[in-house]
Amino acid sequence: MTSASDWSADAFFETPDRVSVDGGTTSAGDLWHGISPRWGHAMHTMCSYHGMFPAKVAHHFIQSYSDPGDTVLDPFSGRGTTALQSRVEGRLAIGNDLNPLAYVLTRAKTNPPRWDHLNKFVDGLERDFQSSTPRHLDVSPDIRMLYHDRTLAQLTFIRQRLLAKPMTTWTGDELMTAGALAGIMHGAWRRDGSSQYLSISMPNTFSMSPAYVAKYIRENGLEKIDQDVFERLRDKIARLYLDDSAGLPGETHHADAAALLAGSGHLAPGTVDLVVTSPPYLQVVNYGQSNWIRLWLLGIDEVGREQGKGRKQLNAVLDHHHTYSSYCEFMLRILLGIKRVLKLHGVAVVVIGDVKDPGKDDPLPLAAKVWDDIRARTGLRLLEMVEDDLPSQSKVSRIWGETKGQATNRDCALVLAHEEGSPQSARTVDWDEPWKDGGPDAAHARLRSLRTTLG
Ligand SMILES: C[S@@+](CC[C@H](N)C(=O)[O-])C[C@H]1O[C@@H](n2cnc3c(N)ncnc32)[C@H](O)[C@@H]1O
Repeated sequence: MTSASDWSADAFFETPDRVSVDGGTTSAGDLWHGISPRWGHAMHTMCSYHGMFPAKVAHHFIQSYSDPGDTVLDPFSGRGTTALQSRVEGRLAIGNDLNPLAYVLTRAKTNPPRWDHLNKFVDGLERDFQSSTPRHLDVSPDIRMLYHDRTLAQLTFIRQRLLAKPMTTWTGDELMTAGALAGIMHGAWRRDGSSQYLSISMPNTFSMSPAYVAKYIRENGLEKIDQDVFERLRDKIARLYLDDSAGLPGETHHADAAALLAGSGHLAPGTVDLVVTSPPYLQVVNYGQSNWIRLWLLGIDEVGREQGKGRKQLNAVLDHHHTYSSYCEFMLRILLGIKRVLKLHGVAVVVIGDVKDPGKDDPLPLAAKVWDDIRARTGLRLLEMVEDDLPSQSKVSRIWGETKGQATNRDCALVLAHEEGSPQSARTVDWDEPWKDGGPDAAHARLRSLRTTLG
């Protein structure tokens, strides 16, 4: 059996073995860095999310520190990486995030509807749209500049349908529709002028400010694309369902992480086997701003605007504005909460990236520094610290790194346990992907035969 520290030493220096490990879809060997960034379940690709970690990071810790049937919690779940990976590996996943976009993505992935139900739901939406009376589009110029009128009419119809109910009451079909649509709201066109996205040609990973986009459209004469939203949505859904999506039904909360961990939700003390999470880093990413277009779809307006009501609403609740000392207090509340919900012999993995210290050349090793400053008050002990220089292209924050000068490409995982706990030592990590049932070709054949059966 390899311990996690042996593994981490290997991960940096060995040349990956370029042999498929699952007979179909994984193109590299069994090391973190060697494995393609595409490694993982197809549903991870639902929607890019600022600050997301690669699925293989979640997989590594899930395999090292939990067994099938165990409960795995991520109180800052973002796009739901830990939740989805845990679920498809037979663990009971619990996710939570206060950002509405993250909540929708996580909940869609913790309880995906069946592919055939979902397609019927989309067909029904399309029929309802076709029989509806065309309406005046009451949409802000920020959104209008991105979409063709016909595309926008379909989008606003679906949006109004979704927003007729609070998102916490959405069905699995509604959540998956919203999550899949969020993923195709904007992105770059192909060279031939076609696109899988609905917008003018722009980056997919994050949204630039409305003022910047407007200027760019003007200066470069960008055109809108006449996309059929229902067709693009069906394509997107087919891609998300390429892998077997069976697994235990999980749960997702839309709460402040500190409050959830302190017991305001239904998280009973001592019930979680493993926590794998990545809290916001110190002032690196604004999780609202970088998603203003997707948040519009979910009913949070004007997030892209300096004094916009959506921006203010999210800034008031998300923990991305701390000074170093208030960040330490925030992390202390989180670690005390994690201690409360963690089983006596459970493990908590907290991934924190380095940040650039203004005015200094070297990045601040945030995880190590915060841990040093608060550990005496946490009641937790450090099992190991896994440092990782992720390749820059697989980390979304690098895109901002060059312009904002704060994010760095170094992540560090604190692996923690109760002071008096004695967790099992790390299990061997199996890099095979059991949810892949023969790769995309087999999955497409399955989809085709399902479509035929459905008529
Ligand atoms: C670094 S990201 C997590 C990314 C995640 N690991 C993934 O792979 O997508 C941190 C998350 O914390 C969320 N967040 C910030 N403050 C929060 C709070 N007080 N309670 C719950 N979630 C919060 C943000 O919305 C963001 O999604």
